[in-house]
Parts: sequence; C-alpha cells; structure tokens
Amino acid sequence: MLALKLVLIMLIVMIANLGCTTEKRDFIGNRIELPAPSGSSDISVEEAILQRRSIRRYSDEPLNLEEVSQLLWSAQGVTNERGYRTAPSAGATFPLQLYIVAGNVEGLDKGVYLYEPDSHSLGQVMEQDLRPELHSAALRQSPVLNAPILLVFTAIYDRTTGRYGERGIRYVHNEVGHAAQNVHLQAITLGMGTVVVGAFRDDDVTDIMSLPDNEDPLYIMPVGKL
Ligand SMILES: Cc1cc2nc3c(=O)[nH]c(=O)nc-3n(C[C@H](O)[C@H](O)[C@H](O)COP(=O)(O)O)c2cc1C
Repeated sequence: MLALKLVLIMLIVMIANLGCTTEKRDFIGNRIELPAPSGSSDISVEEAILQRRSIRRYSDEPLNLEEVSQLLWSAQGVTNERGYRTAPSAGATFPLQLYIVAGNVEGLDKGVYLYEPDSHSLGQVMEQDLRPELHSAALRQSPVLNAPILLVFTAIYDRTTGRYGERGIRYVHNEVGHAAQNVHLQAITLGMGTVVVGAFRDDDVTDIMSLPDNEDPLYIMPVGKL
C-alpha cells in the first residue's frame, strides 16, 4: 500500500515537473559578467513615482554597462539568498525571461542577450541588432527603432500554470507589470526614459528573436537617455 502511494506521489511530481521544463537557449561566446548594481541613488522613490511618464524620444547617447546592469537588476535582479527577485513572483515560479537588444551600448557588441538573474550576467543569443525588425513587428513605433536598447520581456507560462493552472496566466501578466514598473522607476534615477510597448505582432517577435516554443513575448521596453 505504502509502495503504491510512493509511486503515485512520484508520478504526480513527475507530471508537475513536466509542466515546468524549460528549453535552454544556446549562448554565443563567453558569459558577460555585469558590474554590481548600485543600492542607492539621488532620487527618492516618491520622486521617481511622481516623475514617471511614458517617454518615446531619446538622445543618441550610448548607455554604458553600469547603466544596463542597473536596469536589468531593477527588473529581475536577485535580492536574497533564496533567489527571490526585485519583483514579486507568484509562488516564486519566476516565469519571466528578460532579453536586451543592444544597439548602442559602450562595451557591449550589438546583438541580443539573455539576462541571467542568478549570476547577474548576460549570455548572447543572437549577433544581429534586431531593432529594425522589431520596429516593423511593433507596428513601426519609433521608440523601438530609435532607443539605444530594448528590453524584451517574455514568459514561460508553464512555470506558473504548472502550479496554478489557468489562473497562472493571470499571475504571469501581473508579474510583468511589476517588473516593468521597476524599470520605469529605475530609468528615472538614471536620467533615462522608457515606455512599455504592448502593441506588436506576437508571431513576428517570436520569429525575429527565435524564441523557444514555450516562450511568448509580453513587453518591449525601449530605454534611452533623455
Ligand atoms: C499594457 C500596456 C500596453 C501599452 N502599449 C503601448 C504601446 O504599444 N505603445 C506606446 O507608445 N505606449 C504603450 N503603453 C503606454 C501607455 O500609452 C501610457 O502608459 C499611457 O498613455 C499613459 O501615459 P503615462 O505612462 O505617461 O502615464 C502601454 C501601456 C500599457 C499598460
């Protein structure tokens, strides 16, 4: 009887894990360690909330790696020893993936990189500057072409629906809002502006970025200096 129970539990765990499997993306070249993020700024959280606005025009100035590090950390950085992050996550299932499309960053080749929160590093997944293609996919919205970087949030829904079923879909959408707001507020402290772009053709973004089958795009955030 006990053996049967154990087999049943193993089966349930296996089925639950099936829903949580993720495809790993292959990285090109070496992992890029990011500078440690700063824990303070001259602007209070209240000032940043007050100043937050959707900004759709940016200067041509490049960003540097410190600034990129800070933006990525604000979105998904790890902030405790259990691996919990700057943004809340339903059941700590962490469905979000965060990419940076680097077009004009000092010390970073043009291309697409996946942010790895646990090591606070980048793994390059593509060599092309995809801003023109993503600009088309995003209905030719000019910030997507003109910003020095794009942050692209995608989701692996299985990680959250594997635990919460259909309701997990809502939780994933809640979660990307938390992470994107962090970027909005962090951008203010860095003298930058951003906007969340939700209007794009999903299939086109998926194709352009060669996203794995179980990953869907949710937001494009162009970010640049004011
Ligand atoms: C889910 C969602 C999708 C959005 N998609 C776009 C978009 O595709 N393009 C854009 O320029 N702004 C987009 N926005 C930004 C809104 O237009 C903006 O937040 C609104 O005009 C209010 O301005 P504010 O952000 O400055 O307060 C989106 C906002 C949300 C919440």
